[in-house]
Amino acid sequence: MSEERMEQEQGQDLQQEHQRYIQSLESWKRTHHCAALNRQHEGQEVCIMGWAQYRRDHGGLIFVDMRDREGLTQIVFSPETAPQAHETASIIRAEYVFAVKGLVRMRPEGMTNSSLPTGEIEVLVKEWKLLNTSKTPPFPIEDRCEAGEALRLQWRYLDLRRPRMASNLILRHKVSQCVRQYLDENGFLEIETPILTKSTPEGARDFLVPSRVNSGMFFALPQSPQIFKQLLMVAGMDRYFQVVRCFRDEDLRADRQPEFTQIDMEMSFADEEQVMAVAEGLMGRVFNNVLGKELTLPFPRMTYDEAMSRFGVDKPDTRFGLELVDITSIVHGSDFKVFGSAELVKAMKVEGGEKLTRKEIDAFTEFVKIYGAQGLAWVKIRPDEWQSPIAKFLSDAEKENIAKALDAHEGDILFFQAGEADMVNAALGNLRVHLGEHLGLIPEGLCNFLWVTDFPLYEYDKEEKRYVACHHPFTAPAAGHMERMVSDPASTRARAYDMVLNGTEVGGGSIRIHSGETQRQMFDALGFSREEAESQFGFLIQALEHGAPPHGGLAFGLDRFVMILAQMPSIRDVIAFPKTQKATCLMTEAPNSVSSKQLRELGLRLREQPKEGESV
Ligand code: AMO
Ligand code: AMP
Repeated sequence: MSEERMEQEQGQDLQQEHQRYIQSLESWKRTHHCAALNRQHEGQEVCIMGWAQYRRDHGGLIFVDMRDREGLTQIVFSPETAPQAHETASIIRAEYVFAVKGLVRMRPEGMTNSSLPTGEIEVLVKEWKLLNTSKTPPFPIEDRCEAGEALRLQWRYLDLRRPRMASNLILRHKVSQCVRQYLDENGFLEIETPILTKSTPEGARDFLVPSRVNSGMFFALPQSPQIFKQLLMVAGMDRYFQVVRCFRDEDLRADRQPEFTQIDMEMSFADEEQVMAVAEGLMGRVFNNVLGKELTLPFPRMTYDEAMSRFGVDKPDTRFGLELVDITSIVHGSDFKVFGSAELVKAMKVEGGEKLTRKEIDAFTEFVKIYGAQGLAWVKIRPDEWQSPIAKFLSDAEKENIAKALDAHEGDILFFQAGEADMVNAALGNLRVHLGEHLGLIPEGLCNFLWVTDFPLYEYDKEEKRYVACHHPFTAPAAGHMERMVSDPASTRARAYDMVLNGTEVGGGSIRIHSGETQRQMFDALGFSREEAESQFGFLIQALEHGAPPHGGLAFGLDRFVMILAQMPSIRDVIAFPKTQKATCLMTEAPNSVSSKQLRELGLRLREQPKEGESV
């Protein structure tokens, strides 16, 4: 054979082999997700791929539940129909990754599982292929798993294989897609804003990033894109939105993360009615498209003053009663000094609450101490007497008037808090929610939306001994309140609004100051010198002086919102890779120390860590 001929034949062989290889790939192409199969697929040849959940060997047949993101399918290996596949199936262990080609068939009578979408069928294997093995996972990959959160966070990628966690991320995806679609339809442009930026005060500490090129200088990560979205309005962008990461170095709780996501929006030429209508429409769309539920629009509204008076907090959970009643005037001057000389005395009635035990009441007393309370006075209303540690201090007239004010009857318990107004409201307002949960008063499955409006423009910061912005310093004062901004800050109201869902603030926003001069006055009122205001916010004031349109907007906390929709107890459950309460990542072990070379490049030197108990 000539050399040329040999080369030709070899070439053909290679081509054929390549063809076979392509075909083999083709024939192992996935046809369905695990949750997609049902009785309609009976008799069809399918190819599915996923993880092994359980293997059960049953008198000849081997059953394996295959899991993927969407759900489970039962796989059957039979020694009769596919002896080779059956023989090798015994190597399959938990979390092995494998592919199966086989026939969809109905499960025999009595073997169906009505709790699974695929519970009527199974896939009878013709061929199977191992795609990867797995070490034994540190906890079982199932919803019933009782592993502690620390272990789950350390092995987050395994935790996310659990159906509940996967469905949380799917829900989150659906919400953000729906939001994008709605805002696009309503003329909003999605525009990105910088992450390496300058501090915008939203009330928390900044995360700082040292600049290598500009030694000794720092970027701040945005607490929100507030200033940039306002600049986009000055730029004529008209309507803006962004699904955006925000960074706040604050004390963490179940509904807070150091980095979290906002659905951030801003509108030009709009007043609060228009912003609120768009935001309500957005909620309506998400509920309809994602949950298949109709919301009643518009949402009810409540002023800040009313919320504080009736519920003690600015984000009331209106799914249950237990409202607070102001009894200051009834007990003013009372012989019981705790009440008689207090700035504010409020009471709350729990109907039929006399069955609460001493132990429970002691636990509530400890609970209110978190909010600075010294104690918690209580009264059980018995047929002929008030059973209470404070009964002996109250006159008959006081008792009668208190009972009247609270419409209290035999069998009820009353709780009292007296002292400085902020403490009383915080202590009783939070106790109210705690009691609501403890006594099972909160109806399940109810979503109560509420707007809280007419916020104060400022709040007094006792530590800093000055007024700070209640929302942020770019919020416009209410009509007719501009004159008071400096002269009477305490009574100035803001054009701000919060959207509250079941007692959680899911969104907040305001109409902004769009005049440079008013913005300067705002900084005056907050105690900035003109020079300080100029050096920190000169660029914004200048922009406002170059044809800024009237504008306003709002931002939703996406994580909090999805947490409520998914009925999860913590926002960590709806974030793929969240931080712990101590702001660390247990999986990557961030934050970590860096090399002295990196520090030198940044022009930084670490101070010696103070020893325990030593002040910095
Ligand atoms: P605000 O500070 O009220 O407003 O934030 C808007 C919403 O973001 C959510 N949120 C958080 N979620 C998780 N973890 C946190 N640490 C956290 N902090 C806030 C809340 C809140 O309602 N720039 C303004 C908006 C505007 O005026 O348009 C802003 O950021 O659900
Ligand atoms: P005392 O006289 O300090 O022992 O208080 C009598 C009762 O009043 C106890 O049940 C305390 O828990 C309660 N108490 C104390 N301080 C307050 C307060 N600021 N508001 C409401 N109850 C209080």
